[in-house]
Amino acid sequence: MRFVVANWKMNFLSDQARDFCEAFLADYTASPSVTTAIAPPFHLIRPVADSFRSRQVRVFGQNGHADPKGAFTGEISMAQLQDVGCSGVILGHSERRQLFGETDEALAAKVKAARDWNLLPLLCVGETLEERQRGQTLDVLDRQLSILARTGPTPLWVAYEPVWAIGTGLRAEVAQIREAHAFIQAKLRTLMAPNIGPVPVLYGGSVTPENFPELLDIPEVAGGLVGGASLDPAKFATLVKQAG
Ligand code: 13P
Repeated sequence: MRFVVANWKMNFLSDQARDFCEAFLADYTASPSVTTAIAPPFHLIRPVADSFRSRQVRVFGQNGHADPKGAFTGEISMAQLQDVGCSGVILGHSERRQLFGETDEALAAKVKAARDWNLLPLLCVGETLEERQRGQTLDVLDRQLSILARTGPTPLWVAYEPVWAIGTGLRAEVAQIREAHAFIQAKLRTLMAPNIGPVPVLYGGSVTPENFPELLDIPEVAGGLVGGASLDPAKFATLVKQAG
């Protein structure tokens, strides 16, 4: 099974999302060997989920709060994400960590909350350019994954997204991806009970239809978490086809 996930970030108004869904669905055939998901901004979750109902495209949140409800202005809970049609949630994206101060401690609580509300967490990990240059990549991945020691075994997907490769056109090299993914898999094996089954580890960072086939050839890569290219329905449909 391969996985292709669109992270729309803070893009699209309603009519743009409608146009995307129409164009993408015209080009999309569900494949038993590919799991496809789209993470729209909050205001588009319901209409996107409605468009994809019965077409086997999952809808994810881009973030969620650990508490089910309460006085948290501007936040959305896992319960609310589930209520609008999400079956998963992206957690710990580097933009959340860097721009909104999301901590590993908060993420441990979010992973638990996602599990409690039956949402599949897609946990993002990855080093900054400075951390890579200082030789700290594996230490960073180790720290970011260690939150799973506090959550207990839980089904999840992981995305390795080197921060320096996000939105830059600078895709990580095959050797860098292999090293990071092998490390993540080994760490997950020590943290997770075997009965959770294999955890898919996706790559994210400047994925395009031009470089995705090469990425999919890497045995440790289970698929892609895609930003910019996922805003173009033809490109996103191509990525899904390439994974099939
Ligand atoms: P780009 O594909 O635009 O580099 O974004 C990657 C990303 O952040 C997906 O979560």
